[in-house]
Amino acid sequence: MKVVIIEDEKIKRITLRDALLREGYEVVDFESPIFAVNYIEQNEVDVVVTDIRLPDMDGMEVLKIIKKINPNIMVIMITAYGTIENAVEAMKLGAYDYITKPFSSERLIMILKKIEKYKELEKENIELKKRLDERYSFSNIVGKSKAMQNIYSQIEIVAQSDATVLIIGESGTGKDLVANAIHQLSPRKNKPFVKLSCASLPETLLETELFGHEKGAFTGAIKERKGKFECANGGTLFLDDVDDIPLSSQVKLLNVIQEKRFERIGGNESIKVDVRLICASKVDLFNLVKLGKFREDLYYRISVIPIKIPPLRERREDIPLLIEHFLNKFGRPELKFTPEAMEAMIAYEWPGNVRQLENIVQRIVVLTKGNVVTREALPSEITGAIKSGIDNIWNKEKIDLGKVLADFEQRALRWALEKSGYNQTKAAEILNLKRTTLREKMKKIRLNIEPTSLKSVKNL
Ligand SMILES: Nc1ncnc2c1ncn2[C@@H]1O[C@H](COP(=O)(O)OP(=O)(O)OP(=O)(O)O)[C@@H](O)[C@H]1O
Ligand SMILES: [Mg+2]
Repeated sequence: MKVVIIEDEKIKRITLRDALLREGYEVVDFESPIFAVNYIEQNEVDVVVTDIRLPDMDGMEVLKIIKKINPNIMVIMITAYGTIENAVEAMKLGAYDYITKPFSSERLIMILKKIEKYKELEKENIELKKRLDERYSFSNIVGKSKAMQNIYSQIEIVAQSDATVLIIGESGTGKDLVANAIHQLSPRKNKPFVKLSCASLPETLLETELFGHEKGAFTGAIKERKGKFECANGGTLFLDDVDDIPLSSQVKLLNVIQEKRFERIGGNESIKVDVRLICASKVDLFNLVKLGKFREDLYYRISVIPIKIPPLRERREDIPLLIEHFLNKFGRPELKFTPEAMEAMIAYEWPGNVRQLENIVQRIVVLTKGNVVTREALPSEITGAIKSGIDNIWNKEKIDLGKVLADFEQRALRWALEKSGYNQTKAAEILNLKRTTLREKMKKIRLNIEPTSLKSVKNL
């Protein structure tokens, strides 16, 4: 640490300086506060030790100036008997500590050690925060929820191996993104990443796509053609919508996975491949196994490492971050959502998950002239939706049931009132309540619906 001493009494100053030097601190000492301030302005300093009573400038003045130059500099005031009030005042102005004369050098060294420790902790905190911040996104994937943090760690681990990964998630949750990240972080990153969507491909077409065919294998096969397995050799093959693979093709797929070799359609030469397989499915494959629609043996082969991406509605804390991410992506980082607009975005169910959020943000970017997005400016499917406060509690560690229920009741009342045009009889009907019960509930939560207070109802 670099320490500046400002003290007009020469003997005291030299004693302090030598004591601190012996402790290994870098020390610069000044008799005049004006020179000291000048030095602090131009050099990096950690701590300033200054007498309160000084020639030319009061120690309090010095303190104020230093805090203006760099508020991170720690200032220790030296007070004489009778200037304790000043010391208290100095603490209010941001001094770190004060010592009363006469004092030993050891006393000052103790304070400096405390500062050193504090600075170390602060540095650690900053680094920790930086590391956490980095985890707000990972290889193009954005999200700070616990679920996403877990996924980042899983990706990091599986990328190193060749094990087959099964990514499960609703449409638009980022399965492609995760598959890409695994490939990019794997030792195969400079080899091909090949994707095949198995959705609604007829059996023969699917097999041609996977294994290729020889010339003349079937009518129309005028040239030989490589399949995806061959194209992905050395790299990664990403099979999307594996749940759609017909049972008969499932056997062939299982064979390739086990034998690591296959034949082109119409050929009898066995082709050896080294391919890392990543599969994705929108549905829980095990349910299909139970229904007899998916082979159990294949299921176990491909789900060696399952990665489950939860729907967006189960990790709503990611929504503001994703909005920011997409605003940046579409070139409008300055756009701000009002709190009501943001609340509506967070409350919405997002059946199309992140893809839908991305599309909506893009639409908002195009339609918004100014820099503010209000709730009114949001598409009606978002503002029209009523959040079921119940839905987003299951990913929490702890819940306050009373609060959740009260919150839900409040939202239900608001929803019914909005829906009925603030007609209490109708609202009671919608909620299957007696009108008097509705009124009681409204009174309990002080929900006043006189026409003049409609706005406050909406902001509830
Ligand atoms: N966590 C995320 N961070 C940033 N962008 C995301 C995230 N999740 C999804 N996206 C974006 O949303 C869109 C849809 O993602 P992706 O195609 O990976 O979803 P999917 O699960 O494969 O959907 P589908 O089942 O329809 O194939 C893409 O534009 C993707 O970049
Ligand atoms: Mg996809």
